[in-house]
Amino acid sequence: MNDKIEVFCSIPWEDLIIYADGGYSVCTSSERIDYANESNSHLMWNSEAVRNHRANILEGKREGVCKKCSYKTINNATPYGKEIEKTTFLKNPKTIAISPTEKCNLNCFMCGFTRKYHGKNRMAEGEELSVSFMENLAESYFSDLETLNSNCAGEIFLYTYLLDFIRILKEFKPKTVITSTSGSVMVGERTWEEVLSVHDKISFSVDSFDRNLHQTIRGFDIGKLLKNLEIVREIKKNNKIELGFNAVIMKMTIPGLFDFVQRAVEDHGAEFISFQNVFDFESESFSKEKRWRIFYNNQIK
Ligand SMILES: C[S@@+](CC[C@H](N)C(=O)[O-])C[C@H]1O[C@@H](n2cnc3c(N)ncnc32)[C@H](O)[C@@H]1O
Ligand code: SF4
Repeated sequence: MNDKIEVFCSIPWEDLIIYADGGYSVCTSSERIDYANESNSHLMWNSEAVRNHRANILEGKREGVCKKCSYKTINNATPYGKEIEKTTFLKNPKTIAISPTEKCNLNCFMCGFTRKYHGKNRMAEGEELSVSFMENLAESYFSDLETLNSNCAGEIFLYTYLLDFIRILKEFKPKTVITSTSGSVMVGERTWEEVLSVHDKISFSVDSFDRNLHQTIRGFDIGKLLKNLEIVREIKKNNKIELGFNAVIMKMTIPGLFDFVQRAVEDHGAEFISFQNVFDFESESFSKEKRWRIFYNNQIK
């Protein structure tokens, strides 16, 4: 094997992804590598499952979740093939993407969680991480993190332990903390100030500023989002937080993309826009895979 590791996937050396059910992974696939609880959440990064996963990659073996990875189509190479330390035990992840809660008040057209909770009461049954799980994790990793994405699944404002989470972030603040919201929960100025005091970047998830299209995709009136946006822009005058938008690319939003970008920047103060779900692979372009169904406007339910 070449000494220079250039085709390996470096994600398991940098990223820890934690789901609201305690499942975790060191891969962008949603498959859990193992599960943790409040007593061992601080051990996830070097758990036996994670170390075995890294060892397999170091030995050039494609095992477990790697077998299904789309990047296999490109000569084993991955866009994440950075130089890595050839060890399975690592001090700290660079980034953590966490889902404190899966509770959500919406059932967005294209969201995978809409599918997961189809037929269930997501506000009541949505999974959540406990305060002790979060404390344990934060004490071990947060202060040395480059980036924490604090909300990957449900709606952060509906997290039962939001105030505890903010307290923990104040104590163990990672270098950069980012979050996203649908902007659908009517939040008071005071709560916004608290949330923004521990974040560096916030994105509103909005795929179109067209009132009807937004209602179709997200299921609520965009007026609510605009009210929340107004509060954030007011707070931003005295706070260095970066404001942006996340837009999922779908066939129905493409004709309006130019207008979307223009309005995001000129009318709504966007400093960044991130487009989701736009990646392609040589042999799988527009194939039957789930992510392409969203592009074709197939509602997830
Ligand atoms: C699952 S949501 C959780 C955070 C929050 N509820 C929100 O909507 O911003 C996280 C991000 O995933 C995006 N998203 C939803 N469905 C998606 C899909 N099918 N593919 C890619 N991103 C998607 C949302 O627009 C949002 O920006
Ligand atoms: S608001 Fe976010 S988590 Fe909730 S359904 Fe929509 S995209 Fe999914």
